[in-house]
Amino acid sequence: MDISYRYIAGHSSPQTEALEWIEKQTHIRTNHSRMLTGPVQGRFIKMLAQAINPERILEIGTFTGYSAVCLAMALPENGQLDTLEINDELEDLILEGFRRSGLDGKINLITGDAKKTLAGLRREILAERSRPAYDLVYIDANKREYPEYYDLVFDIVRPGGYILADNVLWDGKPWQQPMPEDRQTLGISRFNDMVAGDRRVESVIIPVRDGLNFIKKL
Ligand SMILES: C[S@@+](CC[C@H](N)C(=O)[O-])C[C@H]1O[C@@H](n2cnc3c(N)ncnc32)[C@H](O)[C@@H]1O
Repeated sequence: MDISYRYIAGHSSPQTEALEWIEKQTHIRTNHSRMLTGPVQGRFIKMLAQAINPERILEIGTFTGYSAVCLAMALPENGQLDTLEINDELEDLILEGFRRSGLDGKINLITGDAKKTLAGLRREILAERSRPAYDLVYIDANKREYPEYYDLVFDIVRPGGYILADNVLWDGKPWQQPMPEDRQTLGISRFNDMVAGDRRVESVIIPVRDGLNFIKKL
């Protein structure tokens, strides 16, 4: 942890006990703690979500549940967050974190490939109208697939709703010359280009941590 991050974290509101537990367990029980949203960005997305005042949130990429809990903290009593995760080995850890946060009643974990799950959610929301559209979608899964996630979620966000995508600065690789040609960098770069050229939205990239693309569906 560098000094500036320590200063920023030390001068932002502290994380809850449940989030501290999730963060610690992520370090102990997984090899990918780098993927965690973490206290500063977690606080930021929670406060941003509170300002949006959503009733329905969708998250793509649960990992150990840190950002899901942050976002669920912004929900009203009857609100719901659906969170999609492909790795079923994380399930026990995720569910224990949700339970400890006291928000387990508002969070629905859906295990499986998000692209398949999204196809089902699209059917329920658009064709059968058995579910309401989302007020906020948080994209934080496979960087190669960001353009596909954007296409799949766009119609199931209500007009005036928001999409928030993490890691869009991708360590500066999208503007390196020449740009690295790995599939993750290409995915992020294509996603940012798609959003910037999309007349159906208003968007801004916020340089918090690895970058958040904050997108409003007009
Ligand atoms: C960066 S982590 C998410 C971090 C999490 N949002 C947090 O703040 O702690 C990305 C997660 O997306 C999951 N993932 C990757 N591809 C996926 C897919 N096609 N469907 C669902 N989940 C996927 C990974 O297994 C991983 O747990």
